[in-house]
Amino acid sequence: MYKIVSKRKLNETMTWLVIEAPLVARKAKPGQFIILRTDEYGERIPLTMAGHDSERGTIDIIYAAVGRTTMLMDQLEEGDALEDVVGPLGKPTEMEGLKKVAVVGGGTGNALAYPLATGMHREGIQVDMIAGFKTKDMVILEDEFKAGTDRLYITTDDGSYGEKGFTTDKLKELIEAGNQYDEIVAVGPPVMMKFTCEIAKQYGIPSVASLTAYMVDGTGMCGGCRCVVGGENKFVCVDGPEFDGSLVDWDELIRRNSFYREQEQEDAAHVCRLTGGVRYHD
Ligand SMILES: Cc1cc2nc3c(=O)[nH]c(=O)nc-3n(C[C@H](O)[C@H](O)[C@H](O)COP(=O)(O)OP(=O)(O)OC[C@H]3O[C@@H](n4cnc5c(N)ncnc54)[C@H](O)[C@@H]3O)c2cc1C
Ligand code: FES
Repeated sequence: MYKIVSKRKLNETMTWLVIEAPLVARKAKPGQFIILRTDEYGERIPLTMAGHDSERGTIDIIYAAVGRTTMLMDQLEEGDALEDVVGPLGKPTEMEGLKKVAVVGGGTGNALAYPLATGMHREGIQVDMIAGFKTKDMVILEDEFKAGTDRLYITTDDGSYGEKGFTTDKLKELIEAGNQYDEIVAVGPPVMMKFTCEIAKQYGIPSVASLTAYMVDGTGMCGGCRCVVGGENKFVCVDGPEFDGSLVDWDELIRRNSFYREQEQEDAAHVCRLTGGVRYHD
């Protein structure tokens, strides 16, 4: 069992957990993820490691409560435990040769962007972080990004905090102002990543996107996380999660990601808000 050491609410839907997982913590690197189950009947869900402490034997995750499993996790408290945590999975973030990057995070994607941006900064890379949110209430990790990157730009779609507009507007502005980036990293909803990578291409800058395809086993066996990159089939769990953004077939990814939406909405409705129990079968 994997004990929850601390739980911190970041906003209405997002929560930061520190979990005891010494074997995972010992090998973890920025960009990697875990797959966890809340209980023995639970679904396996992938979550990026937002941090780790190999001495304390803990890992950090930041999740949005969006569906059945994440809503169940939300009902756990400090001292409770998760059934299992498997990892570290996926390839660590490639940082070699980079001097200056822009990391662009959208919504929940900012949770995934956090270890990546701060990990790069720790390696001596200059990091401009553009963190976009729908509205002020959704803003997370402002202090953490400020402390762990070189410059932070917050945008909100409605202008209720930071600068009004999309992350892509800010990215264009920074490039037009003469910032020379070796790479642009996009982490967020597929549509936002698609447009971010298109802007990078327009300006001749390499781009990397962190993909969040559906996963089952996380070992390259089930094919659940297949995506098309450069015309070839790749598996996000073993070949990624980060890929050359200019080569990703975004339309295919967006189509696959919406495949299970109806079933997920039905599943989420089956989490009993009184007991935390789940109806697995009708
Ligand atoms: C490598 C990887 C790393 C991830 N890291 C994080 C993280 O650090 N924090 C975080 O909050 N989420 C992260 N995700 C997404 C997370 O796995 C899903 O939100 C989670 O599986 C939802 O499970 P659920 O049962 O609560 O919701 P479900 O009922 O399965 O889904 C609810 C909603 O979430 C969306 N969703 C479900 N699975 C995914 C997915 N894999 N990618 C994108 N959207 C999805 C659905 O379209 C639906 O709208 C990551 C996904 C991957 C593949
Ligand atoms: S999750 Fe099964 S192949 Fe990637």
